Formats: sequence, C-alpha cells, structure tokens
Amino acid sequence: MKGVVLAGGLGTRLYPLTKITNKHLLPIYDQPMIYYPIRQLVDAGIREIMLVTGGSFAGHFLNLLENGGGFGLRRLHYAFQRGEGGIADALKLAEDFVDNDRCVVILGDNIFEHSIAPAVEKFRQQTEGARILLKEVPDPQRFGVAELHEGRVVSIEEKPAHPQSNYVVTGVYMYDAYVWEVVKTLKPSRRNELEITDVNNAYIARGTLCYDIVEGWWTDAGTFESLLRAN
Ligand code: G1P
Repeated sequence: MKGVVLAGGLGTRLYPLTKITNKHLLPIYDQPMIYYPIRQLVDAGIREIMLVTGGSFAGHFLNLLENGGGFGLRRLHYAFQRGEGGIADALKLAEDFVDNDRCVVILGDNIFEHSIAPAVEKFRQQTEGARILLKEVPDPQRFGVAELHEGRVVSIEEKPAHPQSNYVVTGVYMYDAYVWEVVKTLKPSRRNELEITDVNNAYIARGTLCYDIVEGWWTDAGTFESLLRAN
C-alpha cells in the first residue's frame, strides 16, 4: 500500500498568511499542518509516501521534511504540480509512484482526532474498489456531500447549495489501480479543477465504493475559521 499526501493549491482563502508560505506549512498548535496527514499514513503502517505540492514555496517542504526520517521513513518521494488543476489533477502525478499497487490519498489540510488505521485495515481486506471516510457536519455545503440510501453512498455532490444529507466526504480516499483509468477521463468542473468527487462517483457507478464514518472530531484547515478550529 502506497501513501499520497496532496499539499498543493494557492491557499487563497488564507491570504495573506499564504503570501509567504504554503498553506500546509502553517502551524496547527505546535506542529506544521503537514505533519498531521503524514503521521496518519505512517500510523496506518504505510512506509512509502509521496508528497505532491506546487507553487512558489514547494522547496520549503524539503527543508522541513528532508527524507522523512523524523517519521521513521527511509525516504520521502516528492512531485511538483504545475498550476491549479485540482485534487484529482495532483493525484495523477502519483501514478508511476503507486505503480499498480493500491493507495491511500490524504489531503494535507485534513486533521483527525483518531487514527485512520482501522479504515485502512478494512481497505486492505477489501478485494477491489475504493473506500472513503464520511463525517456528519453542520455545514455540508462547504464539502463534497454524500447521498446515502439503504446504507450505501448513491451519489456525491461537490459543494451543493441544497445538500442531500449532513454526511460529507473527508480528505481520505483509498483506491485500487482503476483510479488511473478514471483520472484520465475527467473533465474540468465549474471551478476549472479536476474533482476528486468525480473520481468517487465513477466508483459508485461501478458499485465498488465503500465507506466508514469518522469517529471523533475532524476538520479541514483551509479557511480562517477551520484553521482556528484545527488549532
Ligand atoms: C475538497 C473536496 C471536497 C472534500 C474536502 C474535504 O474540498 O473537493 O469534496 O469534502 O476537500 O476537506 P476543497 O478543500 O478543495 O474545497
């Protein structure tokens, strides 16, 4: 199992903090934000990890993380995302690294109270498909929202004005090698990005998307309010 941490984007919602560094290097209490998702992957037993980032401050990640030794890793892999193509576009850069293995993808600004290791273990037992983590929140319109029917996710809508439920898709996505076929078919969305929600909907269409509900708290940290909450 490979791990991919996605830490690109301009972080415009956190301007001017992100005028001088990458969003994922901002502090969450006593550590840089990026430490939390890397530690999640390591805690889940993943030892081969690629960090995808971009923008003017990409080099700062090397200074901070070096070869990943601080996390017990032998080395850390890096990829550089040009432009602002979205989460699924960033994921494309990890195809050769994942190399027909399966992968756990985590967004660099997602902070979880508990370990994701039990969900990753269930994915290891899963013979094929994808697995996502859902969380019930009071403000679903900020996220990808899952419509649930008879215990299954029947669709996911990205930032809907009228959400079908309060269950949102957090930034952890587990995929088999089918994901590389899907990302090649994606078209840019209204916000001109390749959406991870479209990838997940492709797995729903195949009937192979499983999910777990996150226990304990979860937050992203991409807005001032959520950054404060994460701290
Ligand atoms: C992204 C995804 C969204 C997901 C969220 C989780 O949103 O597009 O589906 O719910 O991450 O953090 P973004 O942070 O790009 O607005």
